[in-house]
Amino acid sequence: MPLSYFQCSECGQCFEPDQVTYNCLTCGGNLDTHFSFEENPNEIDQTAILQSDEASIWRYAPLLAAPDPGYRNTPLHQVGCTPVYQPETLRKRLGMQELWIKDESRNPSASFKDRASALVVARAIEADIQTIIAASTGNAGAAMACMAASVGKKAVIIAPRSAPPAKVAQLLTFGARVVLVDGTYDQAFDLSIEASHELGWYNRNTGYNPYTVEGKKTAGLEIWEQVLRNREKFAQNLTVFIPVGDGNILSGAAKGFVDLLALGWIEKLPKLVGVQAEGSAAIYNTFHAGKDVIDPVSAKTIADSISVDLPRDGLRALKRVRQSGGYFLTVSDQEILRAIPTLGKAGLFVEPAAAAAFAGLQAAIRQGLHHPDEPALVLCTGSGLKDINAAMRAIEPAPIIEPTLKQLKEALHV
Ligand SMILES: Cc1ncc(COP(=O)(O)O)c(C=O)c1O
Ligand SMILES: [Zn+2]
Repeated sequence: MPLSYFQCSECGQCFEPDQVTYNCLTCGGNLDTHFSFEENPNEIDQTAILQSDEASIWRYAPLLAAPDPGYRNTPLHQVGCTPVYQPETLRKRLGMQELWIKDESRNPSASFKDRASALVVARAIEADIQTIIAASTGNAGAAMACMAASVGKKAVIIAPRSAPPAKVAQLLTFGARVVLVDGTYDQAFDLSIEASHELGWYNRNTGYNPYTVEGKKTAGLEIWEQVLRNREKFAQNLTVFIPVGDGNILSGAAKGFVDLLALGWIEKLPKLVGVQAEGSAAIYNTFHAGKDVIDPVSAKTIADSISVDLPRDGLRALKRVRQSGGYFLTVSDQEILRAIPTLGKAGLFVEPAAAAAFAGLQAAIRQGLHHPDEPALVLCTGSGLKDINAAMRAIEPAPIIEPTLKQLKEALHV
């Protein structure tokens, strides 16, 4: 769908699509996309989308700022259309009626971030851009490197040197030029913007590039198709738990729901709950102070993907959570670590940031913020294989034995 215009999510100023590349030229706020279907919902053929045999984010191309030649010539590995599960063991453990887990580890680079990178690559193809730079805690970069490699584009990734080795291995294996900074993700973010200005590379940074939120909105569209549609009564009160660092995944999923609302395909927004780590809670702090300005923190958490000093899409995430009637909460590193084997015992292997979203649901129930009778969906955003060290901290090590039946029986207490 051709984009009608961009609008600043902060000051409201509108821009023609070719007038601006990144954020608002007046105030620096992140940009939202707008389409003619918001005024004329009949332009969109819902049946054609539902009957599409495209099993990827491109099934929603009629709703996306996906440049036609860009996405049609984008032979990306399959991004999106990730499964939603209803794990019986977890549902019973929490005493819930309805619980969905959306498993984003099934994306090509094993995290949610492929959704954003796919749209950025489609845009790069349309604009005939060869080199894309990104700052990343690891996953956005891995996604960018993976998507770029799949279409022969070049990726330059700046990540903190503390990024989990598996993510760095992905970056290098996908053939990106990788630089690890002796500093934070936030410093990498600023450096990558400086580099893209100086060197003319296209910048994919989360929130800053408006195609990131656009790609991430496909998660909201999928949740509609997989969960909300055909379940009228639940459509009215679904709560979605989302791990939050920069806030762009939350803003993206929310944009999907906002577009669906404009189309009249849902009647109200699902309630959005942003889950932050206690040690990286800048947006949570602002929400609970009832403020509109986000003060940076000095982030420290085991969940590296949501370890952010100054969230780069925080204001928009804040706005979307308020608009949905939701809230922010925090979980401790201990709660995050405990959630890893809890999900594991339901057959799901997640990285700490994804475990944080589930720990958030547990905390919300414990604190009386979420009633177990209300349906919930947890967005599990990344694979446990991304951060083995964290998983090893969350579990008991396996005993090592001589290969004899006697020792086996002793070790297993049978
Ligand atoms: C696995 C995972 N979960 C959650 C997040 C948080 O997303 P955002 O920074 O957009 O809030 C990230 C971001 O890197 C991530 O990689
Ligand atoms: Zn603005």
